[in-house]
Amino acid sequence: MVLFYKMKQPLKNKLSVVLFLMSVVLLLSQCTGNEKQPVKEAETTKISCSEKPLNPNGDSELALLMREMKSSAESLKEKIKKRELPEKFPEEFLKIHTATPTDSDTKKESFEGFATNYINSLQTLYNSPKGELTQNYNAVITACANCHSQHCPGPLKAINKLKIEQ
Ligand code: HEC
Repeated sequence: MVLFYKMKQPLKNKLSVVLFLMSVVLLLSQCTGNEKQPVKEAETTKISCSEKPLNPNGDSELALLMREMKSSAESLKEKIKKRELPEKFPEEFLKIHTATPTDSDTKKESFEGFATNYINSLQTLYNSPKGELTQNYNAVITACANCHSQHCPGPLKAINKLKIEQ
């Protein structure tokens, strides 16, 4: 700052112009940054259940488990498309029965039936002969979709995309 006062007037003017331009650039970059945010929000609400913003109280045990189930299905899909057999059955997915959801009323009476159906079809897939891999994999995704159509329609579109075209 001391330096600024010691400067000659023309130099001061130049410096002011530079400072002014820098603030304009800064302001502009902030504006475009703000514009991007709503898009991001829309993307995240798409995969969650409700229209509410995603996880105001942190991620529920069930939501975290679901994300693992989804990424596991994604890697299974790639494997099966290459006709490779899946490896070890993911025991941790059995927690679907007990994991606590975001809202206590999310798990309706029919939840247990859908959950059992999902686990059974996953077991069938992991014991599947090579020739029936695609069909058994798609049955798992149908089990995801069946529960979601009743309990949590938000991610349905993303779930249906997991299916392997036959
Ligand atoms: C038995 C019912 C049921 C089955 C089966 C099921 N889901 Fe879910 N899923 C739910 C419920 C309920 C939630 C909401 C969890 C919460 O908000 O706490 C959820 C949430 C999700 C979410 C959102 C997670 C987040 O970040 O908030 C995704 C993605 C998802 N499931 C994908 C899947 C996939 C993929 C499968 C099959 C591999 C599957 N689900 C099977 C009931 C099910």
